[in-house]
Amino acid sequence: MKKNFIDKSKTYYTEKRWHHIEGMLHLLDDVKKIYHLSDNLYNDLKIAILLHDTGKKFDSEYNKYPYSGIIHSRISYKIAKHDFGIKDRVILNAILFHPTGKAKMSTLEKFLYVIDFSEYNRKFSKAKKIRGLLLEKKLTESLLCSSKMKLDYIKSTEQAIHPNTIEMVKYYEKIY
Ligand SMILES: [Fe+2]
Ligand SMILES: [Fe+2]
Repeated sequence: MKKNFIDKSKTYYTEKRWHHIEGMLHLLDDVKKIYHLSDNLYNDLKIAILLHDTGKKFDSEYNKYPYSGIIHSRISYKIAKHDFGIKDRVILNAILFHPTGKAKMSTLEKFLYVIDFSEYNRKFSKAKKIRGLLLEKKLTESLLCSSKMKLDYIKSTEQAIHPNTIEMVKYYEKIY
């Protein structure tokens, strides 16, 4: 990956959010070793990580939208497409679906979802638990467990639950 791609993506983040991206990249490097990721998958994941939250810079005006937590992913999707010229559907979909997850996720989507939830700079105990499962090579378990945690959290805040989140939990409960 070219350095100017990384530098450009960095301009979309505040210092705090870039810290989140760095935590994810660090975890990705460990995941690559443990799961023996191909160079292609590793590079695609790196792009998805760098671009997945770029839309957060612009989403504050949508706070009152029922699914306000997912607006940034739609903006990030457009930024990836138009500002960075990403054409790969798998990368674009991973960015688009990263806050909610969905049924039948691609490998890229699964890793992005779990790494986002459990990156090294997330210090809360639930993130540590998911990170532990991920690093023990239990990808599906970490995916299901983190999606349930997210669902419980959304319920506790009385926000609207996106149908994709419910479908994801149902789907992975059935196959796990
Ligand atoms: Fe996000
Ligand atoms: Fe994120």
